[in-house]
Amino acid sequence: MTEPLRLLQVGAGQMGRAWLAAIRADPDVELVALVDLDAGLARTAAGDHGYRDVLVGPDLTAVLAEARADAMVNVTIPEAHRATTIPALAAGLPVLCEKPIAPTVAEARAMVDAAERHGRLLMVSQSRRYSPGLAAFRRLIARIGPIGTVTCQFFRAPRFGGFREEMADPLLLDMAIHQFDLARLLTGADPLTAGCDAYNPPWSWYAGNAAAEATFVLAGGIRFTFSGSWCAPGLETSWNGAWRVSGAGGTAVWDGDHAPAAQLADGTVLTGEVGAEPEGIAGSLTEFVRCVRDGRRPDSAAARNIVSLAMVEAAVRSAAEHRIVAIAEVLGAAP
Ligand SMILES: NC(=O)c1ccc[n+]([C@@H]2O[C@H](COP(=O)([O-])OP(=O)(O)OC[C@H]3O[C@@H](n4cnc5c(N)ncnc54)[C@H](O)[C@@H]3O)[C@@H](O)[C@H]2O)c1
Repeated sequence: MTEPLRLLQVGAGQMGRAWLAAIRADPDVELVALVDLDAGLARTAAGDHGYRDVLVGPDLTAVLAEARADAMVNVTIPEAHRATTIPALAAGLPVLCEKPIAPTVAEARAMVDAAERHGRLLMVSQSRRYSPGLAAFRRLIARIGPIGTVTCQFFRAPRFGGFREEMADPLLLDMAIHQFDLARLLTGADPLTAGCDAYNPPWSWYAGNAAAEATFVLAGGIRFTFSGSWCAPGLETSWNGAWRVSGAGGTAVWDGDHAPAAQLADGTVLTGEVGAEPEGIAGSLTEFVRCVRDGRRPDSAAARNIVSLAMVEAAVRSAAEHRIVAIAEVLGAAP
């Protein structure tokens, strides 16, 4: 039997707690160390999840040297992802990093370069890729022929407090990264250009733009339109968003929570069969462990995921400069 992968987790905030529970539930991994700038917070989080013997501390460098971990899970805030990921890669650890990989493509590029330099996997946890409903939606989309149009509506009103309420573009960077990444997954097409209007409704409790309308042109002429707000109380959509995909042979819809449905051009109505695929961060963790063990490069390897972040950065730039922005302009050299 293969020994569990020994994990160091950095970041013990809100999402860090969800990761502690996911690691606890997965027999293929074992937590050996937990780092947070706030060591007291980390100690409480570890205790709350039944971890009595793990190494806990505020200093990542010291814990990296002492813990003898096999891999790291990074659940710090986006601004800290680069500074915490690169030392772990340099110490020889593959890293599974929360989305968004970094606040900017330039920072993400430095992380990708470090992963290549040290020959270690750097994967981004795009947890919304792992969902039985989404998998069923993808099977229906395969039935509707070449795709022409993809729309996603995302309207919610969470009150997080913390870093999101201070960011310049919280909806685009911290949330829409999920839906932009899903648009790539659903279409299998590369994004080419972004046109975006980002704004902050007068009643918003966020400092930055909490709402946006973005349209992307993807390879093959596919249009992907995202319409969203993080301060839209009432009749909220699911966290995945409400999706509609139209193709030559029909249309498929998914509300993000329940079984998807489709209608073919001949009128036939199809209901998606929802299976039992691992969901959310448990799915990310399963794929990460598998890739560390067999050396395969996942779809969400940082070198590929940087394209999803480029969609965010292109949308932000488009909104700020009132022009259509090419994804290639943001990526600079090819990813
Ligand atoms: N996949 C999802 O659905 C999902 C949901 C929520 C959050 N997230 C992501 O998870 C990450 C963390 O979000 P959160 O809500 O837990 O934030 P948080 O602010 O609650 O927690 C972040 C923690 O990181 C610690 N930290 C910051 N810099 C550090 C450093 N240099 N070294 C060690 N610790 C450091 C902070 O002390 C804090 O405890 C973000 O990237 C966020 O976008 C993903």
